Amino acid sequence: MAFPTETVYGLGADATNEKAVARIYEVKGRPKDHPLIVHISSMKLLDKWASEIPDYAIKLARAFWPGPMTLILPRTQLAKDFITGVQKNVGIRVPAHTVALALLKEYEAHGGHGVVAPSANRFGKVSPTTAEAVELELGDFLDSKDQILDGGSCKVGIESTIIDCTRSIATILRPGAITKEMIQEVIQEVIEDSSEFVNTLKNKIKASGLLSVHYSPKAEIFLSGQPGNGDGFIALDSISTPKGSIRLASPASVEEYAKILYASLRSADIKKISRIFIVPPKGDGLAHAINDRLKKASNGYKQKK
Ligand code: TXA
Ligand code: MG
Repeated sequence: MAFPTETVYGLGADATNEKAVARIYEVKGRPKDHPLIVHISSMKLLDKWASEIPDYAIKLARAFWPGPMTLILPRTQLAKDFITGVQKNVGIRVPAHTVALALLKEYEAHGGHGVVAPSANRFGKVSPTTAEAVELELGDFLDSKDQILDGGSCKVGIESTIIDCTRSIATILRPGAITKEMIQEVIQEVIEDSSEFVNTLKNKIKASGLLSVHYSPKAEIFLSGQPGNGDGFIALDSISTPKGSIRLASPASVEEYAKILYASLRSADIKKISRIFIVPPKGDGLAHAINDRLKKASNGYKQKK
């Protein structure tokens, strides 16, 4: 079942059912060694999935759950190889969306332990932020028994902040709406890790969001240069539209930028626009997370060529 969260739509399956989880990989076209995030309705259920939880992780959970944050922790027996990509760690998140929480609570009331949910897009593509976008992305791969829960458009618009809590210092693996600055207010010490560093660790962490190619529409993305006639253009509303280009989005704030970014990229594909020129927002925090996604989206095309 695809369902809305505050970040992006997820494609959910029983986290303890190997067959159901196998279908997620099939529908997404995702390599089996890329782990999935387990979604639960409350941090009270954290012990089921995670062991050796450091104090700083408890502080983060108290401060930011339900919310757009995923914690990577040593797994319990319940988190099997088929969801962790054979890693000893598991990603866990309590989403802040009434529909997602209602689904998780109902599921837990029926004996369920958790729902794994990657973003509901084909592997390497743009995450969906509306039910219609899920249908567009995955419609061809779903069957009549599969369902899409419609909860309107996602408030945050980009995927959760992922924090590795298996080391002595909290380490941001994927930036998101829970920013480094917000984390520092709660636990002081936090670092951000580049994919190169993560890959040199003994216990290799496989995180598809960490691949340099991701979040890619069909159109080619340019983060500098001038658009020509018929090219798409995305920038804050304070920046005017270059002559001849097609304005795809004019967000008034960085928050709105995150919220509408993926739908704007998708709209270019629908309008058959082949090049999108984007002026990334400046600054730390959420702007930093948007820049992370834009850089990866712009890499996609170069590698496809
Ligand atoms: O906002 C989100 O996190 C959304 C919504 C649906 O919750 N989910 C999402 O899932 O973005 P996905 O699978 O598209 O991206 C999760 C990322 C992947 O790059 C995955 O490899 C990484 O998290 N990940 C999951 N478990 C991990 C683990 N145990 N260690 C390291 N990375 C992990
Ligand atoms: Mg994803």
